[in-house]
Amino acid sequence: MATPPISTDVIHIDLPPVPREYDIVIGHDLLGKAGELIARKLGPRRSIIITDDKVAPLFLKRLEAVLTVAGHDVLPSIIIPAGESAKSLPIMHELSGHLFERNIDRGTLLIALGGGVIGDLTGFTASIMLRGLDFVQIPTTLLAQVDSSVGGKTGINSLYGKNTVGTFYQPRIVIADIATLDSLPAREIASGYAEIVKYGLIQDRAFFDWCDQHATQLLHGDAAARAYAVQKSCAYKAAIVAQDEREAGTRALLNLGHTFAHPLESTTGYDGSLLHGEAVAVGMVMAFDLSVRMGLCPPEDAQTVQTHFTNLGLPVTPPVMDYNISELMALMAQDKKARDGKLTLILAKGIGQAFIANDVDPATVRRLWEDVV
Ligand code: NAD
Ligand code: GLY
Repeated sequence: MATPPISTDVIHIDLPPVPREYDIVIGHDLLGKAGELIARKLGPRRSIIITDDKVAPLFLKRLEAVLTVAGHDVLPSIIIPAGESAKSLPIMHELSGHLFERNIDRGTLLIALGGGVIGDLTGFTASIMLRGLDFVQIPTTLLAQVDSSVGGKTGINSLYGKNTVGTFYQPRIVIADIATLDSLPAREIASGYAEIVKYGLIQDRAFFDWCDQHATQLLHGDAAARAYAVQKSCAYKAAIVAQDEREAGTRALLNLGHTFAHPLESTTGYDGSLLHGEAVAVGMVMAFDLSVRMGLCPPEDAQTVQTHFTNLGLPVTPPVMDYNISELMALMAQDKKARDGKLTLILAKGIGQAFIANDVDPATVRRLWEDVV
């Protein structure tokens, strides 16, 4: 048969969408039911728990036991050092080595037991090992229960900024046990709270008012307030992610404050001096400040936000250190929301009225940094 002459051809690949729906199960004392909940959804599986060295002594043995009782084949768990610096390429490399040593195959299930660091790292690793392993989130920090365990953003930090290497990869189930929060230090609870009130600031003034009235109870251990806040937060986030999983539009609203927070986190070196939620609190105050400067938001609303955080002991200005404003601006420009060199920020017309502002004037942002650091 003769070879035909060169021609341009287009062959279309039809890939039916793979369903990626999943449940976020929220309740008190759910850890004891985790094996059963996972088995009901995914069947009994070869499973590996990934956790950190602060969470392991608290919950690991119990989780291993309930998984075994529910019929899962539980391989030796992997414990990594606690802290933001674990969201790094060297730790991910180490983690993947431990997984290969356990002879993982495509049916192996990874279970993230811990905060946002463990969830982001495990999710990212699951998304690339053997081209994709199923993973489950069992978040044990308030921040992870209200935000990071839901929505499928995974990743690690790089020299080029926070969360700059990662994937969109959804867990198969999220199990949020409010009781696990009882051992969380107060500072970590406050950090997680910043991501709760964020939903009110973005889209629901009434929820902000609820937060304003109940935050102190929530921070001091009120289980009902915590459960309500986790349920509301997950419901807000689930609705947004269902509309815009890959952040083509609406999902960017969830980044309120983050375009200021991420450069601060990078600059402080992920050393624990500025927790993620603390950086987000500072960033949200800055976003409201900028909105006022641009004549978009009533100054009283910005003041209410700042007073709210101050009353709860959350920071409202960046930690005192030597900042290089050009570097902060460069880090902002590298943000994943920046397109074609233009700054995209989440601003607000008031509490509960956030919107996506494309093409914000960098000179105004620079002046804001100069005034606050
Ligand atoms: P973290 O994972 O570092 O946990 C905070 C600390 O609490 C750690 O020392 C941990 O060992 C400890 N800890 C966890 N559970 C505990 C418990 N029950 N009792 C006592 N100690 C406990 O931090 P985090 O605040 O959970 O998460 C922050 C990370 O989440 C950041 O890297 C941030 O970028 C990421 N994040 C991701 C998303 C997303 O959509 N993927 C969203 C928001 C934040
Ligand atoms: N935390 C922001 C998001 O998940 O989109």
